[in-house]
Amino acid sequence: MLHTGGVFVTILDTVDIRPGELTEAAIAIDDRYAAHNYSPLPVVAATAEGVWITDVEGRRYLDCLAAYSAVNFGHRHPQITATAHAQLDAVTLVSRAFHSDRLGPFCAALSALCGKDMVLPMNSGAEAVESGLKVARKWGTDVKGVPAGESNVVVAHNNFHGRTTTIISFSDDETARRGFGPYTPGFRAVPFGDAAALADAIDENTVAVLLEPIQGEAGIIVPPDDYLARVRALCTERNVLMIADEIQSGLARTGRTFACDHWGVVPDIYLLGKALGGGVVPLSAVVADRDVLGVLHPGEHGSTFGGNPLAAAIGTTVVEMLQTGEFQSRSAELGERLHQRLRALIGHGVLAVRGMGLWAGVDIDPTIGTGKQVSLRLAALGVLVKDTHGSTLRFAPPIVITAEEIDWAVDQFATVLTDALASPTIANA
Ligand SMILES: Cc1ncc(COP(=O)(O)O)c(C=O)c1O
Repeated sequence: MLHTGGVFVTILDTVDIRPGELTEAAIAIDDRYAAHNYSPLPVVAATAEGVWITDVEGRRYLDCLAAYSAVNFGHRHPQITATAHAQLDAVTLVSRAFHSDRLGPFCAALSALCGKDMVLPMNSGAEAVESGLKVARKWGTDVKGVPAGESNVVVAHNNFHGRTTTIISFSDDETARRGFGPYTPGFRAVPFGDAAALADAIDENTVAVLLEPIQGEAGIIVPPDDYLARVRALCTERNVLMIADEIQSGLARTGRTFACDHWGVVPDIYLLGKALGGGVVPLSAVVADRDVLGVLHPGEHGSTFGGNPLAAAIGTTVVEMLQTGEFQSRSAELGERLHQRLRALIGHGVLAVRGMGLWAGVDIDPTIGTGKQVSLRLAALGVLVKDTHGSTLRFAPPIVITAEEIDWAVDQFATVLTDALASPTIANA
């Protein structure tokens, strides 16, 4: 039995997925040659389709993580792979040294989806965040008139915006920060959900407020109902850019195109990533009006792969798929079912369920085990989820999941909880 941070746990810690030979060999080569900056579950994916992943042993798993929402449309959605195949046969990369016939249509489509004027295409989510911060600082100097080098950006405690040097500079996560200093200055953090604290933190040199509308990695934390509207009003009153990091919460995950839509809030800058690349390529974007993105001039920012024809073609298809509203409605309807089924487990090993649409953070009773232990047990029953913050599990399946598959996944989860609760708790060391 394990002693996990002062809590004695039940038998879950003894349960493991029995790795087969192929799994062991694949993990061994990863361990030997890939940097150890992740601690994955011992599942080795070989193929995937829709919501299902098949491992190297031929075992099937229902993917309830969807690559942290990068696979919102399911693995290898036929419309997206068709675009990718066609573009692979045309042109994939020219860098921004030349134009391509795919970039303009992608930027036009994404601008329209966001109701904004322009797009700055990048690759990873963290790059979109970095780029958004650069744009805000430049806007501060060129437009707002903040003295060069003196601007600040207000962020929320417990944020997660990626892991580059600047981004970890304003993170509360000591694991992500420790040993990586010196840190980038110019950030101040206030409690998420506290509009009064935000108002106090803004001064004449504040150029932006950067927030996840719903905090994902923090455990799917939904803010108080009036919060985002108050942030919007404050940013307008104080001439500060509101930047919404919708990299995980956006593109239909919560049942609307953007999480901000639930509160009728339109930020000055959207940061998008993950699902924008259709689960096929890294594609991220900063989307804003001309008076904001127009501050960038040639040479001030760039990326060799940003907006490449392959990514732009796929991104255009993703935007077309979102324009129908089908994925948003599906996430809203099936999300209701997911939340209802998960809430029924409160008091039976679950302490709380949060979230919106097909995005649920589930707090496990720590006396039955850690989130990682429950994830391992669930994987053994064919359901893939990931823990965050020790005892929270995140359920975020691809939006193509069916009602029956949701029921099946929650049934497996209920079985894990029932087994754990039926086992005697170890009361002492
Ligand atoms: C809200 C948010 N912003 C930014 C990122 C960073 O994205 P990436 O891992 O693609 O750099 C993430 C990743 O989980 C995220 O959830």
